[in-house]
Amino acid sequence: MNSVLVASNRGPVSFTVPEDGVLTMKRGGGGLVSGLSGVAKDEGVLWVCAALSDGDRSAVRQAPGGRLDQAGYDTGALRMLDIPPATFHRAYNAVANSTLWFVNHLLYDIPNAPNFDTRFRREWESYRDYNGAFALALAEEAGHGARVMVQDYHLTLTPAMLRAERPDLRIAHFSHTPWAPPEYYSLLPDDVGREVLEGILGADRAGFLTERWAQAFMDCCQAVLGARVDRDGRSVTHEGKTTRVGVHALGVDGDALWERAAEPDVISHLTALRDQVGDRKLIVRIDRTELSKNIVRGLLAYREFLAAHPEWHGRVVHLAFAYPSRHDLPEYREYTAAVQRCAKAIEDEFATEDWDPLILNVNDDYPRSLAAYRLADVLLVNPIRDGMNLVAKEGPILSEHCALVLSREAGAAAELGPYALMVNPYDVTGTAAALHRALMMPQDERRRRRDLLAAAATALPPQKWLAAQLDALV
Ligand code: G6P
Repeated sequence: MNSVLVASNRGPVSFTVPEDGVLTMKRGGGGLVSGLSGVAKDEGVLWVCAALSDGDRSAVRQAPGGRLDQAGYDTGALRMLDIPPATFHRAYNAVANSTLWFVNHLLYDIPNAPNFDTRFRREWESYRDYNGAFALALAEEAGHGARVMVQDYHLTLTPAMLRAERPDLRIAHFSHTPWAPPEYYSLLPDDVGREVLEGILGADRAGFLTERWAQAFMDCCQAVLGARVDRDGRSVTHEGKTTRVGVHALGVDGDALWERAAEPDVISHLTALRDQVGDRKLIVRIDRTELSKNIVRGLLAYREFLAAHPEWHGRVVHLAFAYPSRHDLPEYREYTAAVQRCAKAIEDEFATEDWDPLILNVNDDYPRSLAAYRLADVLLVNPIRDGMNLVAKEGPILSEHCALVLSREAGAAAELGPYALMVNPYDVTGTAAALHRALMMPQDERRRRRDLLAAAATALPPQKWLAAQLDALV
């Protein structure tokens, strides 16, 4: 039986079935997995996650009890759940990604969406079943008094379900996203909004990436549930049970990142990128192609910058890496197309025989992203809203002198704000001006800021981030 367990939708690895039929294992993506992967394996934590793809399902079916580590994969202790595909898709795509993600990132086009109709009710039932499958697996695997760390908006109901099953456990829930203010949160049907909050309050501790998201959660508990909130003591009491609220600003393991960035595959990308852009200045962005990342406005800002500053033509290149994400959702496919259209318009307007102003790349390539960080003169991170944003933290660690243009709506702004050039993500002209200021920043000033950014980014590496939460659960 296990004494520390982690549960999340996406696990540390995913599988694909290539044409030769042999399963290939790959590292999972996104902030949550980047943060937890190294640590969970080192600490002997049992990780419970969902099978996301057909490849994952094949791997699970060949593993005893879904334990991939026991089927010979080098994953650390890992149990993958084979939840029926239709249930999984309704829970993951319709509820988690199209509803809870949209609410917490304020993404709805309000005159047209959301519509909570009878179809949504079926989807909500699946979300309950999916959360129940996690609660059941955790109840089976956890030793007496074990500590269970439930992650993110996919699994808001699991803490309360698990507590009902196993009152001996110490349970934490952690949100890797922002939390919505009550007036936006109240778009959810009243009973659903309550169920989500009560699900999380089933935990002993509810964790958030910044004070701002923790306060928003407490505001919702007060407004929606009428719960008693102690803001200074950071706790919520509802129906006789108290849940403590914690803030843990996930950072980066700088040494591990440097080690990875010194490997030959990164170095060969570094050489290739250098050849491609010559001695021009580089503005870099790296994101999932994700609505909340605000890639289109970022490109529009680059366009305005080029239009306002012809003196930079031929002297700067924007490397925009926007790798695929959540392509089962039509909004994401349309967004990817919008990013591509916008990039093409910039090319058509400004490119010359010997100057490519913009290199947009839509394939996921981790070593190439690391190479881009190392070369960046400016890093653009301009999300509409973001739980933390680890790109803003990784970039300054790997670049010697990059200036950071950062959205004030990213969780990372709380720590990095004083040393970055802050922007309102909706203000395209303001972002264009910040890109210019970042390019013009004197060398000693950019190095000074870069050192402060890197220090803030490494203040709470994943190891310490997890340890602090485990300690607080005692
Ligand atoms: C965000 C979420 C994570 C999620 C990641 C990637 O960082 O907080 O829970 O894993 O996005 O999204 P995906 O849908 O591909 O897992």
